[in-house]
Amino acid sequence: MARILITSAIPYINGIKHLGNLVGSQLPADLYARYMRARGHEVMFICATDEHGTPAELAAKKAGKPVAEFCAEMHEVQAKIGAGFGLSFDHFGRSSSPQNHALTQAFAGQLADEGLIEEVSEQQVYSNADGRFLPDRYIEGTCPNCGYDKARGDQCENCTKQLDPTDLIEPRSAISGSTDLEVRDTKHLYLKQSQLKDKLSAWIDSKTDWPVLTTSIAKKWLHDGDGLQDRGITRDLDWGVPVKRGTEDWPGMEGKVFYVWFDAPIEYIAATHEWADKTGGDWERWWRTDKGADDVKYVQFMGKDNVPFHTLSFPATIMGSNQPWKLVDYIKSFNYLNYDGGQFSTSQGRGIFQDQALEILPADYWRWWLLSHAPENSDAEFTWEAFQTDANKDLADVLGNFVSRVTKFCRSKFSEALPEGGAYGEAETRLIADLTTKIRAYETHMADMDVRKAANELRGIWVAGNEYLQAEAPWTVFKTDPERAAMQIRLALNLIRVYAVLSAPFIPDAAAKMLSGMNTLDTSWPDDVDAALTALPAGHAFIVPEVLFAKITDDEREEWAQRFAGTRD
Ligand code: 2FM
Ligand code: ZN
Repeated sequence: MARILITSAIPYINGIKHLGNLVGSQLPADLYARYMRARGHEVMFICATDEHGTPAELAAKKAGKPVAEFCAEMHEVQAKIGAGFGLSFDHFGRSSSPQNHALTQAFAGQLADEGLIEEVSEQQVYSNADGRFLPDRYIEGTCPNCGYDKARGDQCENCTKQLDPTDLIEPRSAISGSTDLEVRDTKHLYLKQSQLKDKLSAWIDSKTDWPVLTTSIAKKWLHDGDGLQDRGITRDLDWGVPVKRGTEDWPGMEGKVFYVWFDAPIEYIAATHEWADKTGGDWERWWRTDKGADDVKYVQFMGKDNVPFHTLSFPATIMGSNQPWKLVDYIKSFNYLNYDGGQFSTSQGRGIFQDQALEILPADYWRWWLLSHAPENSDAEFTWEAFQTDANKDLADVLGNFVSRVTKFCRSKFSEALPEGGAYGEAETRLIADLTTKIRAYETHMADMDVRKAANELRGIWVAGNEYLQAEAPWTVFKTDPERAAMQIRLALNLIRVYAVLSAPFIPDAAAKMLSGMNTLDTSWPDDVDAALTALPAGHAFIVPEVLFAKITDDEREEWAQRFAGTRD
């Protein structure tokens, strides 16, 4: 039995996420966590909300709420949605937790002790009316390029030109509207990650089994342009982890907080600490190599935009601290999911959002479609047509139909209990051999986190059962040889249990219905397919389960395509 630590990129707190966010990290991480648990491994699956930074402050302001209150509410909303999608986190933490405050400050202190922190003086816009420094995007004014009067200090939304706050004509504070602004000196902490370049580079080079998407992004950032830059890890904001050197105040850093991207990945560790405080568990054995974490396999899941932070910045924090923290062993990254010919966009409200998805269909439809179309080798596209066609075919016509046909036939010709029947013939031997090959391939793809390949194999496993049924036609055999038909149906009913066990990582709710229909708690993995197909003995009672997957109708598809064509308010 192995110990596997799994983290999913932690979603920003500032709103409900779309389906692209789900398939880019949380959902494949959940698939892997469920699979590894099913194979008997000890799993720690961690996620959290990423609660600091300007976007959180701005979203709270827009909602007219104090930021702490806004974050607490949105955390609950996101936790509920995650549960709705069946995300089986061991803990869904908050980067604003006291545990993360303490750990982030401890990391900064250790990095300073190692001589890896530099204090740098910079100039930044200060608003006298607001009594604070303004981050670039808190400054608004007229774009010098196109004349748009609501351009932000970092970029003009109208003409997309990248700006510096000093470029703006008639700059004003986005908080109060005040034009009483001045440029002041301010001091910030920089992490000297350039000093860790050789170590990071050798580490990345040693990861020859990582997905190309992951290593190519890491190498680009390491070697292109100016290479690995030292980075500012503090900000002049109110909301965040206050800058401290361990537990000590940091002279000159009063009123400043750590940059959101400094504390966010540290939350992976802190969230495990939160879990331990809640459950009485031991978090250090997952994270400290001096406390047993050497045996842990640590896997991270994320979208490609997060790769630089996880391949370089966070490892720089860990390596630089010179403390025995566990480094990631494998980074599975994803491309983007597009929506109906364009991009999903949280800021523009384009696409279907997670809460909306759950309102119209059960989670398993989304889980199956999204995972079987995971954007692994290139960007993928969600269209309503493809979604309807694939879900109807795979889930309703193949899997659902198998379950319904077999159980109903047995009930009508025998009873609601497994019939006895005779010995297997050639077709059954062939089926068992075929399933064995396919299940072994499925295991390989799941262990390798090849999500699409695993979905294809699982579909093939479902299809094999259907083809067997179609070819052997127990309903015809029954007329002349009821003994044989009984054997076929006994095997097929056992196959429903095997399907439930194999499919649970993808479609946990349907799998649970199948198991309860088969009236069994036996979730043992089909290591030996032949034996697994006799797990439920003759005479074992079952119940015909309710329809597993209703088909998506054309009317529904059209209605949804229209409803979600525009933008969300
Ligand atoms: O891209 C995002 O949604 C970020 N909030 C991910 C952070 S992952 C990690 F570093 F914690
Ligand atoms: Zn402009």
